[in-house]
Amino acid sequence: MLLSQAVGALPWLLLALSRSSNAACECGYSLNKTSDESYAVFTELQENDFLHTSTKTLTDYGWKPQVYNVTSKNARGPFGKNMELRNVITNPLKDSNSWSGDAEHGGDAGLELWVRGDHQDGLVDGAEIQSRRDDALLGTFRVGMKMSNSSGTCGAFFYYHNNSQEIDMEFLSHQFNESQGFVNLVLQTPESVVHGYDASGTAAFSVQRLPFRPDEKFHEYRFDWTKERVAFYVDGTFLYEMTDNVPTEGGSMFFNHWSNGDPKWSAGPPEKDTVMTVSYMKSYFNSTDTERSQNAYKKRCPNYDPAKVCAIPTQMSAPDPSGGKDAAKTYFFTQEKDMTPGQILYANAATVFGAPALSIVVPALVALWALTS
Ligand SMILES: *[C@@H]1O[C@H](CO)[C@@H](O)[C@H](O)[C@H]1NC(C)=O
Ligand SMILES: *[C@@H]1O[C@H](CO)[C@@H](O)[C@H](O)[C@H]1NC(C)=O
Ligand SMILES: *[C@@H]1O[C@H](CO)[C@@H](O)[C@H](O)[C@H]1NC(C)=O
Ligand SMILES: *[C@@H]1O[C@H](CO)[C@@H](O)[C@H](O)[C@H]1NC(C)=O
Repeated sequence: MLLSQAVGALPWLLLALSRSSNAACECGYSLNKTSDESYAVFTELQENDFLHTSTKTLTDYGWKPQVYNVTSKNARGPFGKNMELRNVITNPLKDSNSWSGDAEHGGDAGLELWVRGDHQDGLVDGAEIQSRRDDALLGTFRVGMKMSNSSGTCGAFFYYHNNSQEIDMEFLSHQFNESQGFVNLVLQTPESVVHGYDASGTAAFSVQRLPFRPDEKFHEYRFDWTKERVAFYVDGTFLYEMTDNVPTEGGSMFFNHWSNGDPKWSAGPPEKDTVMTVSYMKSYFNSTDTERSQNAYKKRCPNYDPAKVCAIPTQMSAPDPSGGKDAAKTYFFTQEKDMTPGQILYANAATVFGAPALSIVVPALVALWALTS
């Protein structure tokens, strides 16, 4: 398939202008407009603008860096994995008012997940983060990211409930060549558990060709998870969908970047340090937490009114600074005034307007997580 190469016409700008002034998303955020033939409404949001985030405490921004290691046996490869805090680094743009230009520590601006080249101890050092929120059930999940340009790592963005309820977009850097790349789309299902956690022999696995190298530019990778299907998109263009074994439980979002040297999957490990960079993350979802889905939602939206639902803008171009000064500028409800009533907001939300950020509940902890995903 061909992805649209169309340069985005800032559709969100039109949307913002046409929205009536008192609509403030009280009744949620929609995939498609509520006037379209089919649409879905989600009550919750989490957005992270990593081009403008500088912190040593990612938990303040809604993400828990994972710290754990697994032996080569448990990692099912010639090397073990060692997920470390030091491999998760924020690297914002130097100019906080800009959407392009130099990054604070050089390289690409964004949240960096490093895989290290030194693996003499039999472990490959990598990086993983998990969202603090673990109550996402159905939603649309979108990330701007640029993958490693060293052969031999796996970079992934996924939803996880357990080993049979998982939605992954996984990038194997050894699959990239001069002109193209691939994304591995996976639903971990009860069937893949039976196959020893290997989904590759099941219907819920598809390798899709991309007409570009994922290590050359930032692109938006997205999945829309509704009851009926999981639909995958790249830069706003439909790529593939899966309709069987659609997950039914709430979970967290994850990013990770790792290698275990398995020639059939990550390959590698790389001989030098290599990075995957996330420029943003945007989740619009429903919650399994009845306090959120019932009480908080009913309070701000006592009577459902489609005029109080905000359509989520579609990013139709690669959000990469090489496309022009504002090409990496994408729409965030959290950077607009009054568009996030009653939402759980983290530290960077609405700083543009100086609105106070609500903080929540869970204390900032670095979680131990023996996940072998
Ligand atoms: C949104 O519209 C597109 C295009 O018509 C359609 O394929 C998709 O299923 C719709 N999404 C939802 C959640 O209804
Ligand atoms: C999400 O929750 C809201 C409120 O309960 C509901 O109206 C909406 O249909 C749900 N969305 C989906 C896709 O099920
Ligand atoms: C995952 O969770 C579902 C729902 O709670 C459960 O039915 C299933 O057995 C779990 N799978 C694994 C591998 O634990
Ligand atoms: C890149 O890989 C694809 C698929 O394996 C192949 O068809 C294509 O010829 C390769 N291109 C180059 C320049 O190696």
